Formats: sequence, structure tokens, C-alpha cells
Amino acid sequence: MNKIIEDLKWRYATKKYDSTKKVSIENIEIIKDALRLTPTAFGLQPLKFIIVENQDVRLKLKEKSHNQEQVVDASHLLVLCSYIDNTEIHVEDYIDLIVDTRNVAKENLEGFKEYINNTINPIPLETKTIWNAKQAYIALGNLLHTCAALRIDATPMEGFEPEGYDEVLGLKAKNLKATIVCPIGYRHPEDRYQHLTKVRKHHDDLFEVI
Ligand SMILES: Cc1cc2nc3c(=O)[nH]c(=O)nc-3n(C[C@H](O)[C@H](O)[C@H](O)COP(=O)(O)O)c2cc1C
Repeated sequence: MNKIIEDLKWRYATKKYDSTKKVSIENIEIIKDALRLTPTAFGLQPLKFIIVENQDVRLKLKEKSHNQEQVVDASHLLVLCSYIDNTEIHVEDYIDLIVDTRNVAKENLEGFKEYINNTINPIPLETKTIWNAKQAYIALGNLLHTCAALRIDATPMEGFEPEGYDEVLGLKAKNLKATIVCPIGYRHPEDRYQHLTKVRKHHDDLFEVI
């Protein structure tokens, strides 16, 4: 079987983790690199990834996650956050990063900067928040596939209270919003979900070739 398909069939939304098994530091670094390489609109990366290891914090977050056990039993808890607002300062920082990374003159990027600011500034705050959250979902897809390739289990989770996460992690003050949560670790042998056949629409219902 093709490796990509094999990986994607191996993964499933894990409900019960083996809390004794930890993801290695090496694999955490690979996951962080993969998240860092996630493409985003304009390349702005309006994101922050919080890796929660602390069990006390995770117990508090579990209460804000409809008591889903994965939040505490998994090896690590990743909280994919996105910016509430985009400002000209973020754009300026991004331009500076391009200058540093590619060793180009800042004057040459003036047009690009203006283009981004002219696009972003008129967008209402609520729309910008949603736009940024969409970037977090690109990271989620990347994360799930990376974990599968490493044979690390993961659970994409929307079943949590963003306001509760904000309360526990102090996100709002940092212009952040918890967009999606993803515990990662190793499946428990007793997790019955690992044996279920995947339910997916038939090709004919999902694809249209014109
Ligand atoms: C955006 C998103 C949010 C989800 N939220 C939850 C959740 O809160 N709790 C949970 O146990 N599973 C959650 N799931 C898992 C889905 O139910 C699961 O991915 C889907 O049924 C397909 O099954 P599979 O991932 O095992 O192939 C979520 C999945 C996605 C993509």
C-alpha cells in the first residue's frame, strides 16, 4: 500500500491513551518543525502552539473540555491558538523576518508590506479572527499527518470551551484564542475505536471531475 495512505489509515481519533507512554523529545522536535513549516496566508503565521505538559494545568483544561480524558491521559496536550487580531506591527515583524532570512533590502519589500496592510486593515475584527483560525486548521492537518507518519496517536478536538481555555492559559491578554486542541501520545490497547473501520464517503460522492 502507498505509504501516505497507510499512514492515514493507521491514524484514528484516539479516545483512550496509555498514560505511561511518552512521546520522545526527538519526536516532539520533529512535530514542532512540522508545525513551523505549515503554510499560512501571506506567510503571516498568526499562530501560537502551546504544548502543555503540566498535569495541574491539564486537569483544569479537562474541566473546560467536557471532561474528555484524552486531555490528561495523553503524553502531551497541544493547544493550537490563533491571533484574535492582525495589526501593522505583525506585518512589520514579518517583513523584518523576510529581510533577515533572505538577506534582502527592506526597501524592496515596501510594496509587499503595503499590499498586505491594504488587504488586512479593512477587514472587520471578527472576520480577521475567523481568518486566523482557518490557518490553525491547516496546522492541524499537518500535525495529524506528521503524527501518523511517526506512529504517534493524536485526537483533533473542538469539544472544548475557548473562553475556559482563555481563562486557564491567559490567552486573550496575548491576543490569542484557543482554536483547536490536540492531545498526542500512544493509544491504549483497550481503546475500542482503533478497531473500527473508517467511515468515509464514497469517491463518487466526494469528487467531481469537470
Ligand atoms: C475539527 C475536529 C474536531 C473534533 N473534535 C473532537 C472532539 O472534541 N472529541 C473527540 O473525541 N473527537 C473529535 N474529533 C474526531 C472526529 O470525530 C473524527 O476525526 C472523525 O469521526 C473521523 O474519524 P477518524 O479521525 O478516527 O478517522 C474531531 C475531529 C475534527 C477534525
